[in-house]
Amino acid sequence: MRILFLADVFGTPGLAAVERLLRSLRAELDLDLVIANAENVADGAGLTARLGDRLLAAGVDCLTLGNHTWRRQGVGPYLVGATRVVRPANYLASLPGRGLAVVEARGGEPVAVLNLLGRYALEPARSPFEGVDALVAEAARSTPVIVLDMHAEATSEKVAMGWHLDGRVTAVIGTHTHVQTNDARVLPGGTAYITDAGMCGPHDSVIGVRKDIILRRFLTQLSQRNEPASGDVRLEGVLMSCDGSGRATAVETFRRPAE
Ligand code: FE2
Repeated sequence: MRILFLADVFGTPGLAAVERLLRSLRAELDLDLVIANAENVADGAGLTARLGDRLLAAGVDCLTLGNHTWRRQGVGPYLVGATRVVRPANYLASLPGRGLAVVEARGGEPVAVLNLLGRYALEPARSPFEGVDALVAEAARSTPVIVLDMHAEATSEKVAMGWHLDGRVTAVIGTHTHVQTNDARVLPGGTAYITDAGMCGPHDSVIGVRKDIILRRFLTQLSQRNEPASGDVRLEGVLMSCDGSGRATAVETFRRPAE
């Protein structure tokens, strides 16, 4: 099975690139499943029902989220009904939505998609390491193919989660920092791993936001509203393969200019 994980889709430029390119990419790369992190699609922070539905209509099979999950009004009711959207499982259990979704790949094979939020500089209700074993066990009751989006600031948390789950899940994909890392590999137990998958969005920017806005903030300590940048739009992510037992057989970074 060949799975493409699209890194954080940032604002309208990222969404438009996915809409323009994904259909042909699915054929070109012979993809069985596409997962995308969608927590930045609403102007760089959050998800709305309309934007989530557009990504799904563009050919994404499952959406993951992160620290901006609750940013937009109306997302809660959307998450209740959206069976192909996951939010970090380690938010309060009383909040809407799910941290585990089982979706169907091209041939109908079930794939479990999990989402966790790191603790460093972010605000999950619980440690991502607490409860992850039960979450993986729950996923494994449905399918051996299990992909985790580990949305975290700290490299160490992501690397540690990769080792913790090595041999028990198909992939641990790091997201959130928007700069693709050069460490994609299959760990010895058969888990595909990368510290950060990158960003689908404008790279002539500071992690998606207009450079002038962020530079002014750093140079003067005066802040203004973030706005998505527009130049050097790319799709980025991770392309991986696994066998029927869920063991990853290959993983590589993916990058494609979108303009
Ligand atoms: Fe994030």
